[in-house]
Amino acid sequence: MLFTDVIRTKRDGNPLTEADIGFLVSGLSDASIPAEQISSLAMAIFLNGMSFEEASILTLGMARSGTVLNWSDCQFDGPVVDKHSTGGVGDKVSFLLAPIAAACGCYVPMISGRGLGHTGGTTDKVECIPGYQSMPDFDLFRRVVKTVGCAVIGQTNELAPADKRFYAIRDVTSTVESVPLITASILAKKIAAGLEALVMDVKVGSGAFMESVPQASELAKSIIGTASRAGLKTHAILTDMNEVLGDTAGNSLEIVESIEYLTNAHREPRLDAVTVSLCAEMLVVTGMEANRQDATATVERAIASGDAAEKFSKMVGELGGPPDFVENYSAYLPAAKIVVPVTAVGEGVLSSVVTQKVGNAIIELGGGRRVLGESLDHSVGFSEIAHIGEVVGADKPLAIVHASSEETAQIAASMLREACQISSDSPPKNDVIVDILTPE
Ligand code: URA
Repeated sequence: MLFTDVIRTKRDGNPLTEADIGFLVSGLSDASIPAEQISSLAMAIFLNGMSFEEASILTLGMARSGTVLNWSDCQFDGPVVDKHSTGGVGDKVSFLLAPIAAACGCYVPMISGRGLGHTGGTTDKVECIPGYQSMPDFDLFRRVVKTVGCAVIGQTNELAPADKRFYAIRDVTSTVESVPLITASILAKKIAAGLEALVMDVKVGSGAFMESVPQASELAKSIIGTASRAGLKTHAILTDMNEVLGDTAGNSLEIVESIEYLTNAHREPRLDAVTVSLCAEMLVVTGMEANRQDATATVERAIASGDAAEKFSKMVGELGGPPDFVENYSAYLPAAKIVVPVTAVGEGVLSSVVTQKVGNAIIELGGGRRVLGESLDHSVGFSEIAHIGEVVGADKPLAIVHASSEETAQIAASMLREACQISSDSPPKNDVIVDILTPE
């Protein structure tokens, strides 16, 4: 079989066969198909789509391209469950949710991704913590999930390796925003992780891959349907991504905000709503709680009691990070050389944000990737980000920029100003929880 024929088939709008997809998956895994041919096929899929059938074959093929974890011998006294986000800007929910869910009695083996396009990645963020093993061997991963209840790690070479390579190529070829490719990529990792249930955070808005509610619903339904076929019970929450989630965006700044949240020092309301809703849905999808109201109360207790912060601290220590990280995080995290406010042009209400541009500004600062394998500056980004509906002007900047030089600080500041629309009227309120979808 020639891979050029596979590309041609999809380029001409025809469906790929099981053999074609099998060829793609093995060529991705052993690198026998070069990146230029993979990216060409990715673009053909992006433009011409894939049927539900093709996406399901790709999902299972990529899931089985490496080790598929099995937790049955651990004899856990709770369900093995996870959440996954389709990607946004400032999305640090994973660091909050994994320990909260563990404090509620779940086991969360979270295999996260790196930054993709303009969105940040949990693996990149966790690597800000000195000593933290983001790619542990399976023995350590299992041990931490078993003893702590959660472990947030990156995608190792053993887990869904076909997706790992495909994801990295899509990241730098503008082929991310495709329903079948996102479905297959996410579920391949989740099926390989041996989950019993999954909650999806499908982001919608100007900083998400799906900008409209119909597009996001289509993606949610595709993920729920494909997951059910593979025996993975999945619920999805559509959440608003028309502005940065929380007060920070940028790798180590988001870790700081996560610790402040878990220690009850500061819980930004939109970030809080998304985190609590997703955690509560994990308790509902697994049957641990009968309804969302009870589940929410359980989640609130796990945060307020400090149990979730304790789980986070233990997870960091067990994975090689500093045991006193939660208490002394500022001594461990990298700090940027230049820290300056970004003032708005004029005074008024922040009425809308082109959130993708904020993500692009972080790439410009060095906090995200332009090309495959690029290393990151973890210290850069934005903090104290203004939210839609807030008055900005001389007394309240749009954000504080953290940069490695005056020049990049200025570039990022002007990108942020361009991303933010200021007006004299208050904009309509955007609900952060847009919809909740469950299998039909
Ligand atoms: N997250 C993933 O894991 N894969 C995608 O393709 C998009 C978001």
